[in-house]
Amino acid sequence: MGAMHKLLLVLFLSALVLPCRSQAGEIDWPRVKSARIALFYPGVVSWDFLTSEDHRLGARMIKSGRKDCRNCHLAKDGSLDIKADEIALGSLKMKRTLKPFEPEPMAGKKGFASADVQAAYDGEHLYLRFRWGSKGAGWDSSARTPDRISVQANKSDPLFRSNGCFITCHNDLTSMPQAPSKKEIVEHPAYKGRDAVSLYSVHAKSSWDRKNPEADSMRAAGLIDLKSIEFEKGVARAVDGWVFEEKSWEEKAGFEGSGEWVEGYYTAVFKKRLGQAGKHDVALAEGDVFTISLAIHENGAKERRHYVSLPVSIGLGSGADVQAVRLKD
Ligand code: HEC
Repeated sequence: MGAMHKLLLVLFLSALVLPCRSQAGEIDWPRVKSARIALFYPGVVSWDFLTSEDHRLGARMIKSGRKDCRNCHLAKDGSLDIKADEIALGSLKMKRTLKPFEPEPMAGKKGFASADVQAAYDGEHLYLRFRWGSKGAGWDSSARTPDRISVQANKSDPLFRSNGCFITCHNDLTSMPQAPSKKEIVEHPAYKGRDAVSLYSVHAKSSWDRKNPEADSMRAAGLIDLKSIEFEKGVARAVDGWVFEEKSWEEKAGFEGSGEWVEGYYTAVFKKRLGQAGKHDVALAEGDVFTISLAIHENGAKERRHYVSLPVSIGLGSGADVQAVRLKD
């Protein structure tokens, strides 16, 4: 083989397995391909709205499974075709009931945000790195509310694959328009004295106080892994949980979360072990494709007042919206 051919072969092979590591074994992130994920401010958009006459054709297609959010709302250039600026302003009304998409607009809240994602894996771990512009209000030493990036993930539920986090969002969650009163929640036996209704999967419950008959049989496939990195007073903290009957937190995070805020940008890196996973985590292996949905809370925002993404698929070696690169071990 001539020298030129050898060189080409080496170049070809190194494009398959990227030597994206520094000598200290750190990932060389600038060499890992990055993709942009569009996020929007949803106001009180819930699964109830999405499957109602207020969402008209959208609702019919979601229910029949013939089209999903991305078919109708994601433009070819990756931007969102959703009236999110009008939602944030409080000026957009639902088509049929004429209810506002945002009954309590916040001054200056923008309709759109975006985050860049990079994905990489080696023989042992998957790494997801996100970067987004932010004032860093939670990072500040005087912050009262942490800033946070949350990732919902699931590998096997077709409804999550098409609709992402929207299958966990309902009109009766705390901070949504039809939330029950604190008193009603506290007095309900299933809530054991807690006073908030948190995210639940549409597979698990038909309303805050009604379990679905098929809940138990749907649990294995429908459980949604929820991992967050919180930024508070100069510290990044990993928080690990899951969503099914409700949002639940694990005592100890089953992943490593790190990150920082520097010059107007947050970075967050989720490092998760491949292979066998805990009971409330997605088990991932080379060749898998799984779906994530992102949420970003910032600037003192809590509960529903976040930016969210449509579902995004991540692949460890096969076709997906975001392809994780294989690192040299
Ligand atoms: C078949 C196409 C279709 C699908 C699938 C669909 N939508 Fe829509 N959506 C629409 C249309 C059309 C409207 C505008 C309402 C109208 O005029 O009927 C809309 C309105 C909305 C709005 C209100 C803001 C606006 O721009 O009007 C939001 C938010 C929204 N959709 C989110 C979603 C999400 C999230 C999903 C997936 C879970 C989804 N849609 C699936 C077609 C669709």
